[in-house]
Amino acid sequence: MIYFDNAATSWPKPEAVRAALSDYFGEAGGNAGRSGHRMSVAAARIVENAREALAGLFHAGDPSRIVFTHNATHALNLALYGLLHPGDHVVTSSVEHNSVMRPLRHLETLGVEVTVVPCTPEGILESNAVRRAVRPHTRLVVTTHASNVAGTLLPVGALAALAREHGIPYLVDASQTAGAIPIDVEELELDLLAFTGHKGLLGPTGSGGLYVREGVALVPLIRGGTGSDSAHEIQPEFLPDAFESGTLNVAGIAGLGAGVRFLLEIGLDAVRAHERNLVAQFLAGASEISGITLYGPGDAALQCGLVSFNVAGATPSEVGVILDESFGIMARTGLHCAPAAHRTLGTFPTGTVRFSFGWFNTPTEVEVALGALREIAAWAEKGAVSAWMA
Ligand SMILES: Cc1ncc(COP(=O)(O)O)c(C=O)c1O
Repeated sequence: MIYFDNAATSWPKPEAVRAALSDYFGEAGGNAGRSGHRMSVAAARIVENAREALAGLFHAGDPSRIVFTHNATHALNLALYGLLHPGDHVVTSSVEHNSVMRPLRHLETLGVEVTVVPCTPEGILESNAVRRAVRPHTRLVVTTHASNVAGTLLPVGALAALAREHGIPYLVDASQTAGAIPIDVEELELDLLAFTGHKGLLGPTGSGGLYVREGVALVPLIRGGTGSDSAHEIQPEFLPDAFESGTLNVAGIAGLGAGVRFLLEIGLDAVRAHERNLVAQFLAGASEISGITLYGPGDAALQCGLVSFNVAGATPSEVGVILDESFGIMARTGLHCAPAAHRTLGTFPTGTVRFSFGWFNTPTEVEVALGALREIAAWAEKGAVSAWMA
């Protein structure tokens, strides 16, 4: 079996991640920060170790600026609803995932003005186009770091500088890059970075977080028990407690911490180089197959570890079913929760086939997949896909 769906969720997880979950359930087991007994203290230590590992990975300095959430969607909602108010203006790009677009479209109904800056059909965003979109009442710029459809990397460094110049916070959705591409929030001077734990960070589903730079004034999305300041009925204002109400997903955070430590040991430069080589190998091979259309910049240096394509004469879902059933290759097909990105690429409403690579994929697997695509493209050219499906 070949797993090329790491952009949906990474698989396999390192052995250390599985061990961390098992250790938590078998030994630590308590509720982090809620009691004084040894099992609660052990759980709290797991959470703080994971926070420190993440702060190290993102060069965040103070670990308390890392807030745990259930996933990137939760982190993005926390940032968007915590910063934007009626009468505010927000600038975003046309390749955003629905975890940015849907909250923004809802905020629009509450009186927030939204400008979507168009990207090129390759998913490229010009930072000057964002500059032109900024208005006096712009309160936030939010973009993904990399399109989850085309793979295209957005110019986060230039956008961070632009936002800083205008005194506007910049929120980056690092769902497709955290754990796969080095990110230094200090060097880039990012204000907010939303990440999910279960993709490049190699942790379990139900884990993620938000980095919040000091000085960014966020209103909490939910309020409640934090295990701290319990004599008071008012939500604490210090981080991370201000944004971590309710029992944390300690098991998920245990696995996430182990995933991050695994990556820190390998080094993100090595992860990036590995995925970039797989993308380059795929692009070189697929561009020679008649009937395959590739989307995105077509240059491994300009994209994260994923590729999108279509096969002439077959729908993306037909290709996905054949890849799975006849070749044991797991790919994602369709719209990838990002209809705006597909409108940008010209692939709406049917979408694309997406291969997304991870640390555990190999050049041999890419070769096997290219062979499978050669066969599928040849069948599709003859109009024989439905015969194959039958
Ligand atoms: C660019 C992007 N943003 C946000 C998300 C949402 O991540 P999660 O489902 O973990 O909240 C995804 C997931 O596919 C994504 O690709």
